[in-house]
Amino acid sequence: MALFTVDQALCNGDGLCAAECPMMIVQMTEGTPTPARGAEKMCIHCGHCVSVCPTGALTLASLAPSDCLEVKKELSLSPAQAEQFLRSRRSIRNYKKAPVDKALLEEAIRVASHAPSGHNIQPVRWQVIYDTDKVKELCGHVIDWMRWMIKEQPETAKKLHLDLVVAGWDFGMDTINRNAPHLILVHADKRNPMGQAACTIGMSYLELMLPSLGLGGCWNGFFNAAAIFWPPLQKALNLDEKTGNYGAMMVGHPKFAYPRMPPRNTPKVTWE
Ligand SMILES: Cc1cc2nc3c(=O)[nH]c(=O)nc-3n(C[C@H](O)[C@H](O)[C@H](O)COP(=O)(O)O)c2cc1C
Repeated sequence: MALFTVDQALCNGDGLCAAECPMMIVQMTEGTPTPARGAEKMCIHCGHCVSVCPTGALTLASLAPSDCLEVKKELSLSPAQAEQFLRSRRSIRNYKKAPVDKALLEEAIRVASHAPSGHNIQPVRWQVIYDTDKVKELCGHVIDWMRWMIKEQPETAKKLHLDLVVAGWDFGMDTINRNAPHLILVHADKRNPMGQAACTIGMSYLELMLPSLGLGGCWNGFFNAAAIFWPPLQKALNLDEKTGNYGAMMVGHPKFAYPRMPPRNTPKVTWE
């Protein structure tokens, strides 16, 4: 089967598909896009050839124009809207007890899974710890790791205030998952050199999507560290040795609203 077909009645011969293809495997032959030699093997199925075509003339074997959502101009953000969208995101550390409708989490993950990944490899695997009791149980493993750190690596533990976290936990305070009802993890194959970056970006997309669904999240650095370094937690998460955990995020319904957006440091930029 050909890598792509072109509807001659729709194609205007503008060559945008050829100019846009990151692998340079679309060539113009007498004004018509055709696959270059070996194109099938090289194609990363990013869909740029389909998405850039103004007339919808090009159909990849794996992707038709009708499979793509149309960009609605009326939904585009102005710079002020984009700034508010990005800057109004807050790390949420106070949650309502009520669990989140699973459909909302599915929706957030569905949208977040459109984040970029090297070679469009899309290596991110999502693990949703939906059950709040299970979240607590897993956080117990994080505490075990912290107790181990306090004993074996006291200097690092002190720097990270692990003693305070453990003392709080023993007192009934959860400063690991902040009593959020759910926890979402991102994994990728450790052998994929681009897996970690894809997970970080995917999780960032997730965090940015949550507020539009009435939800909020916060990176759970403690959980992530324990998932990297503490074998009992890896076992409890069913992580095999080929799989890396590259991010953890607590998720729930925020208890509070944040009417102000705090400033951050002026960016350190060099121009060359
Ligand atoms: C990789 C990473 C790990 C983090 N880990 C934690 C954490 O374990 N617990 C926590 O309460 N906040 C954690 N945070 C949230 C940061 O503290 C927060 O982003 C920062 O204070 C700025 O606040 P803002 O996100 O509301 O702008 C983490 C953030 C990142 C990016």
